[in-house]
Amino acid sequence: MSRERVTDEVEITKLIYIKEKDFMSTILKTKDLTKKYGSKVVVDNLNIEIKEGEIFGLLGPNGAGKSTTMNMICDIVKPTLGSVEFMGKDFKKNRKELLALLGYIPQDLAIHGNLKAWENVELFTSLYGIKGATLKERIDEALEYVGLSEKRNDYAKTFSGGMKRRLNIACAIGHHPKLLIFDEPTVGIDPQSRNFILEKIKESNKNGATVIYTSHYMEEVEAICTRIAIMDNGKIIATGTSEELKKMVVEDTSSITLEEVFLTLTGKKLRDY
Ligand SMILES: Nc1ncnc2c1ncn2[C@@H]1O[C@H](COP(=O)(O)OP(=O)(O)O)[C@@H](O)[C@H]1O
Ligand SMILES: [Mg+2]
Repeated sequence: MSRERVTDEVEITKLIYIKEKDFMSTILKTKDLTKKYGSKVVVDNLNIEIKEGEIFGLLGPNGAGKSTTMNMICDIVKPTLGSVEFMGKDFKKNRKELLALLGYIPQDLAIHGNLKAWENVELFTSLYGIKGATLKERIDEALEYVGLSEKRNDYAKTFSGGMKRRLNIACAIGHHPKLLIFDEPTVGIDPQSRNFILEKIKESNKNGATVIYTSHYMEEVEAICTRIAIMDNGKIIATGTSEELKKMVVEDTSSITLEEVFLTLTGKKLRDY
């Protein structure tokens, strides 16, 4: 498929999304989600609502609290306060059922170097109770999806950064989740793997998955996300489509980039974490 066609399709998807967003059902909601480490508040009273079918971008500088938020959504980090509702149910009270509908691709790779590619996918997919012939099919499907079929028998430790990232994704999709959460999946990888991952995210979304995409790369977020929340110092400071965010800063949005919007809203102070 040509680049232009892919871009056109994303634009059409965004337009349909903007038109229909008020009618879409909520898939995930955080209520006053807060995390403190000692006296430091790293996620501060977060209330976000994600609609089914969105590619929701969480954009923020390093240390903004993005990974902590994702870890709380997936119940890996316990919130100091607040709760998460997923598919209309309290996450904590329905943890087992809801975890099976979630695919989490963490920022820190969760693969095992001393296992072959297919064994990594098997390990994670089987955690969801998938067995026998279905498990075998799902392993093949997930490896095919991330372009690693031919490397299935290679040990993960021999993989490049981009291949490891792609294997990390394969491990999180074998159970066919409804909601996919990507935490900075393109940091430190080659442009081809980066482009491949972004195309796959759009494809998963087209096939029905809702996506949360966390990044500090504005151009990526702008290219693939239907809606964007800007996070800084543990707080969401603005939410909207890229056009809506630009309108918060200037009347005529034709010449402003999302980066300028971001710097205007978050300030230009250096972040050294
Ligand atoms: N386990 C922890 N103990 C203390 N501070 C932490 C811990 N995890 C994260 N932090 C701090 O919380 C802040 C937010 O971190 P993080 O959620 O990783 O941000 P982001 O993903 O946006 O870069 C940072 O200042 C980080 O140092
Ligand atoms: Mg992070």
